[in-house]
Amino acid sequence: MKRLNFDVDVIDCEGGEGVDLDILRQKLEADQAHVVKAVCVVHNETSTGVTSDIGEVRQVLGIDLLLPTRHHQIVTYQYEARHPVLLLVDGVSSVGAIDFRMDEWKVDVDLTGSQKALSLSPPGLESPKAIEASKHAKSTRGYFDWGEYIKCYKSGSYWPYTPSVQLLYGLRASLDLILKVEGLENVIARHSRLAEATRQAVIAWGLTVCAKEPKWHSTVVTGVVVPPWLNSNDVIKVAWKKYNLSLGIGLGKVAGKVFRIGHLGYVDELQLLGALAGVELALTDVGYPVTLGSGVAAAQAILSRQTPSIASRL
Ligand SMILES: Cc1ncc(COP(=O)(O)O)c(C=O)c1O
Repeated sequence: MKRLNFDVDVIDCEGGEGVDLDILRQKLEADQAHVVKAVCVVHNETSTGVTSDIGEVRQVLGIDLLLPTRHHQIVTYQYEARHPVLLLVDGVSSVGAIDFRMDEWKVDVDLTGSQKALSLSPPGLESPKAIEASKHAKSTRGYFDWGEYIKCYKSGSYWPYTPSVQLLYGLRASLDLILKVEGLENVIARHSRLAEATRQAVIAWGLTVCAKEPKWHSTVVTGVVVPPWLNSNDVIKVAWKKYNLSLGIGLGKVAGKVFRIGHLGYVDELQLLGALAGVELALTDVGYPVTLGSGVAAAQAILSRQTPSIASRL
């Protein structure tokens, strides 16, 4: 946003914390002239394993009422809310794994990513409010100028540039897996169960989860804080080099302090248990005192209680 010369007011927070609703509320209440045009929120912060509640953010902004007004043949829209700001959400690592309600939360634009829960999706779903705002915005646009896409869609040619047809077929296949084979509710429940098992393993190792409060616990990635005498990158290095296990690094403020265990997308119980066993080996190698099998057993206790039978094999 800054690179595109937008005037950005960043609400900074500690690694491990989600959206600060009080500060957001104060800033919007202070903005009587409605200078602020959009609130940008990350639904699931992948670098720390923190999920923010977008429904609560929407409550702070107020509910929009879309009021079409006709002047002859031209339709314009007026909006009534506590603040008429657009709600733009980064759902890159949440959509398709964590409960996300575009319509109910009146999200104006959501971006998601091909490489995360949905696998292979093109980004960009937007509300009428966002389309209307884009008609008057003076910001620079390029490849993802909606105007071009909407024009082509209406004319039946669908794509203003060469479409990535393979990605679209891939998207169809991954959406079928999520929506038809497993079912979205089951996918969301699987992510919750794997996350809880992972957190229990972290506790059994005597380590802590980066997300500071349970309300921010991510179900798709768990950030694990190591003790100050240990560099988390050493754990990641040995896991990769010796056990062929790819853990995530801590980014920004938590670099060297956190490693991340991903449980996002097409991951099942036994894959997770293998990963947790690998983490135990890597921790042992770097000199962290862990009882081998302790985290795996803690995770197994959760998984044996919570894992349902596979629907297609009942
Ligand atoms: C929450 C979140 N937002 C944005 C991005 C950036 O996505 P991309 O790498 O596709 O630009 C990532 C990538 O990991 C992410 O996790």
